[in-house]
Amino acid sequence: MCGIVGAISQRDVGKLLLEGLKRLEYRGYDSAGISMINHQGQLCRLRTQGRVAKLLESFEKNPIAGTLGISHTRWATHGIPHERNAHPHQSGDDIAVVHNGIVENFETLRDQLFQSGYIFHSETDTETIAHLMHCEFQKTDDFLKAAKNVAGQLKGAFALGIINVKDPDRLIAVRCGSPLVVGIGIEENFLASDPIALVGVTQQFIFLEDGDIADVKRDKITIYDKHGKEITRDIHISELTYDSASLGEYRHFMLKEIFEQPEALRTTLGCSLNENDVSPDAFGVESKACLEKTSHVTIVACGTSHHAAMIARYWIEELAHIPCQVEIASEFRYRHVIVQPNTLFVTISQSGETADTLAALRLAKEMDYLGALTICNVPASSLVRESDFAFITRAGVEVGVASTKAFTTQLLGLLLLAVTLARSTIDKKQRAKLIQLLRELPDEIDEVLKLSERIRELADLFANKQHALFLGRGLQYPVALEGALKLKEISYIHAEGYPAGELKHGPLALVDKNMPVIAVAPSNDLLEKLKSNLQEVRARGGQLIVFADTQSGIKNGDDIITIEMPKVDNLIAPIVYTVPLQLLSYYVALIKGTDVDHPRNLAKSVTVE
Ligand code: AGP
Repeated sequence: MCGIVGAISQRDVGKLLLEGLKRLEYRGYDSAGISMINHQGQLCRLRTQGRVAKLLESFEKNPIAGTLGISHTRWATHGIPHERNAHPHQSGDDIAVVHNGIVENFETLRDQLFQSGYIFHSETDTETIAHLMHCEFQKTDDFLKAAKNVAGQLKGAFALGIINVKDPDRLIAVRCGSPLVVGIGIEENFLASDPIALVGVTQQFIFLEDGDIADVKRDKITIYDKHGKEITRDIHISELTYDSASLGEYRHFMLKEIFEQPEALRTTLGCSLNENDVSPDAFGVESKACLEKTSHVTIVACGTSHHAAMIARYWIEELAHIPCQVEIASEFRYRHVIVQPNTLFVTISQSGETADTLAALRLAKEMDYLGALTICNVPASSLVRESDFAFITRAGVEVGVASTKAFTTQLLGLLLLAVTLARSTIDKKQRAKLIQLLRELPDEIDEVLKLSERIRELADLFANKQHALFLGRGLQYPVALEGALKLKEISYIHAEGYPAGELKHGPLALVDKNMPVIAVAPSNDLLEKLKSNLQEVRARGGQLIVFADTQSGIKNGDDIITIEMPKVDNLIAPIVYTVPLQLLSYYVALIKGTDVDHPRNLAKSVTVE
């Protein structure tokens, strides 16, 4: 949700600030901007509505040369996508601010500043910060002190980058709830919402903690904690490479990431298994005692990660015979939660920065949970740093807003958790069998990816459709939910996922020849029940598309299209059956001509509530 880049150097930083923005476009893409202090000591700003490419064009025509600057790509919270609402926001010709997050008390502050004579040119909360900075700087004549005073007055979650022509040798960074890293260079230093923005510039990063204010100069970085005390934070070395953020031969990141799934699963397995079992360190070296004591599990997540949690519930209850509760993070945090003794609290997140999930974790840490485990794809993220233990999914950088390889590796991590918790319910031989099954999983996904062309042809059916229903039963019900989320997210077709048995309790009323109904139907104990539900659809003229293996006995017909899937064990079937639904959404989005990797109104990392 909004990407920030900042740089202070001895070289011109314009191109670097823009290059960083391109890599942060997954965080927001409705407008972009850059402010620099030029060699004449003036504050120069360029802003454009739309994608970063437009800002690049504008910069080519109106280049700015300078060694200090900030840039921003926006995901609108206050005010429509428009040049006037694009960041950086300025107060006069002195101060420029970029911001990620939401200032909850901005209206009160704005009224006060307006009374003092400040003029507002945008509808954003950020412009309030710029004027407040100006006001505090007038009072203190000290840039750093002014920033500290401003941070103390803001309520909400925010990350800020601030520059000031009156003090042109420093870049001030403030972190409160929204992610921000300081990149360390040689005689130059940087700022970014995500280290990926600075790939190729530096590999050394300091992850700011909540309440931190960083005073970033060319040759020195000083950090103050939430109490104003100077503090030393660890330096992390990033392993990110340029490749992880580039498209290669693929047209879209989403397609690239769908096809990377076998490799992502192999790598995740490689880091989590020993010969015949889950490695004792897979969930963190100190997790063993906690997992042994666990007799209840609560899992909290958002969106696709929440669907992973729903599948995990089936696995944990079936394999480990341990009750498992699953909840959407934004609901969990506003509910009176009763914690059962010995409950493990689990969060799941691709980004590790999702505001609601992070808030739920912080709340849980104040309660009587046994411990907090996160299943996360970003090792240096806030969720990983604040949890007691972590299972790192090795999906690699996921750029497409629609989560694909992060989801399937999360599922793998959760299945391994279920196997680990099943210490007294499955014997050594069964465990070894399960582990073997998991080792074969990447090959099964390779097989499914071969269906890509067949699924591409199928996508034509959706060209003029407005709605779609996804059906599944048991473990496949959350897979249906995920299929529906993927389709609506990137093709803008209204789609709903249902447990197939629920069809007759309402959604059947929607079924007619214009309603494609997609079913995930591996042969399992619930298949016959599902078949009856599919008959209900056929009887009402619905167009059925069924993903099923040969043993299911579901055949192609006039009103039913069957895509033949490999026969796989029921436990791993949710992971395998997710993949064709990802491909279907992707190809439907291509037909619809949407911006696949940057769907409207969405952002990859949801750092606001
Ligand atoms: C996935 O396709 C979505 N973009 C979205 O639902 C996402 O899963 C959700 O915002 C949670 O994100 P997280 O996994 O980074 O916490």
